[in-house]
Order: sequence, then structure tokens, then C-alpha cells
Amino acid sequence: MTDFAERYDAVMVPVIFRPWAQELLRRVPPQDGQAILDVACGTGAVTRTIAETGVRPASLTGADMSAGMLAVASRKAAQAGIDARWVEADAAALPFPDHSFDVAYCQQALQFFPDRVAALTELRRVLKPGASVAFCVSTALHENPLLTAQADALQMHVGDAAAQAVRNICHLSDAGEVRDAFTVAGFHDISIDKVSLKLSHPDGRAYAEGALGGMHTGDKLARLSEDGRQRCFESFLSGLGPLFDGKAIRFPHVSHVITAHA
Ligand SMILES: C[S@@+](CC[C@H](N)C(=O)[O-])C[C@H]1O[C@@H](n2cnc3c(N)ncnc32)[C@H](O)[C@@H]1O
Repeated sequence: MTDFAERYDAVMVPVIFRPWAQELLRRVPPQDGQAILDVACGTGAVTRTIAETGVRPASLTGADMSAGMLAVASRKAAQAGIDARWVEADAAALPFPDHSFDVAYCQQALQFFPDRVAALTELRRVLKPGASVAFCVSTALHENPLLTAQADALQMHVGDAAAQAVRNICHLSDAGEVRDAFTVAGFHDISIDKVSLKLSHPDGRAYAEGALGGMHTGDKLARLSEDGRQRCFESFLSGLGPLFDGKAIRFPHVSHVITAHA
């Protein structure tokens, strides 16, 4: 489990999650003195990006259901001298008193919550009235060529379940469904923008090695031989077409960015 979290933080965070964190912070800038919550914080990409801004929050809290992701979050934050607390919790059952936070961020995780309204209602409970939130959620698979190539390669070399796990990253693509969930949970001033970031990695093969197995719930490539793994990586890279130039990969990643007030 920690293996995946380490690879996630080393390979995927710099390429994908840090740029999205910067986008969220651009839209809802953190402020001095705020109590800040990073929901489904993973290895702490958003929290570390907040710390890099130089802002001096009253507190920084990351919550995630994965102990493995939190272990990496805690270690990396400590190494960077960031004073944050890391809490193992389901987004639908946050162990914080009512009205604890001034602002919350939730990056690329809403699509995985089994009951989104329950999680958003729980988030609103722990936010102060009027607090700001910023979320991002990948849009449809056909708008995200990296994930399409990943799902296709896994379908061919591993099977349905592995490919479906990647497709699920994109299964909350309907902005109306997202808006409804925030509305039912009681948020207001809901704004949803479709944003395309141009992302890149200088070494597509290194990205494939680090990212394709994925999942803290089990490496999708675990049952392949080394040859099989390499064939899967080659399928992924050729599936990218002109987005792979033989060395680097450059790809758009499209997400809905949601901002709202509690
Ligand atoms: C794609 S990662 C994003 C992590 C982090 N926000 C980032 O930007 O790197 C999705 C995260 O959601 C977490 N997660 C999924 N379902 C959850 C739930 N019901 N409650 C809390 N965390 C959850 C996973 O453990 C994982 O760390």
C-alpha cells in the first residue's frame, strides 16, 4: 500500500495533482489565520501547495481514508517543515466538531465517494457558515486522452476490472449531477467551470512505470510478467499517439472546478 502512495507522490503528484492544486488555490486563495481542511488529501499535494504560498494559516488538516496515503503525507510534510495534522477518516464521517474550518479543498476525490451528498453534507457541517470550498473532478474519458490510453492498455493487457478502475476516475462528468449534489447538501454560490490544464512528463516510460499500476487497493499490474508489464507500457504510449514524442508525454487534463460557499 505504501509502495503505491510513494509512487503516487513521486510520479503523479508533480505531473497531475500539484498543477491542479495550484489551480484550486488560484481560485480560492488561502488566507493567513484560516483553519484549512484538505478532504481526501491523499499524500498531501494540496496541503503542501498551500504551505508553498507562504500563507500562515491557523491550522492545516488533511483527512483521508487511506492510512498508506496519510503515512506519506505526514512524512513529506514533516520533511518540508509543514505543521499539519493528518487524520484517517471517511469523507462522510469527519471526526471534527461543527463549524471547525474556514475553507476546504477537495481534489480529484468526489467521484470516488460512494454517497456524494452524504460527504458534502458532512463537509458543510464542519465548515463555518459562509466558508469557501474548491473542488476538482475529472470530466469525461473522451476529454482525457492520458486516462483513455491508460484504460485501453489495461483493458488489453490486464482486464475489465483494471480498465474500469481508470474509467471510474471520469465517471462523474456531468456538471448538472455535480451541481445537484452541492445544492442538496446545502451549499450556495455554486460555480462550475470546465478547465483544461496542459500537463507533461519529460519521460513517458518513467510515467508509465510509476502510474499505470495505480491504486492503493492493489497494483493492477501485479499479476503480469516483466514482459507483460513492458507490453502494457508500450500499448499505453502508442495509445497516446502524437501526445508521446518518443520520450516526453504532453497531454490535456480536463476537469470541472467547483467553488461554493457553505
Ligand atoms: C486521486 S486521489 C487524490 C488525492 C489528493 N486529493 C491529491 O490531490 O493528490 C483520491 C483520494 O481519495 C481518497 N478517498 C477516496 N474515497 C474516500 C472517502 N470516502 N473518504 C476519504 N477519502 C477517500 C483516496 O484514499 C485517495 O487518497
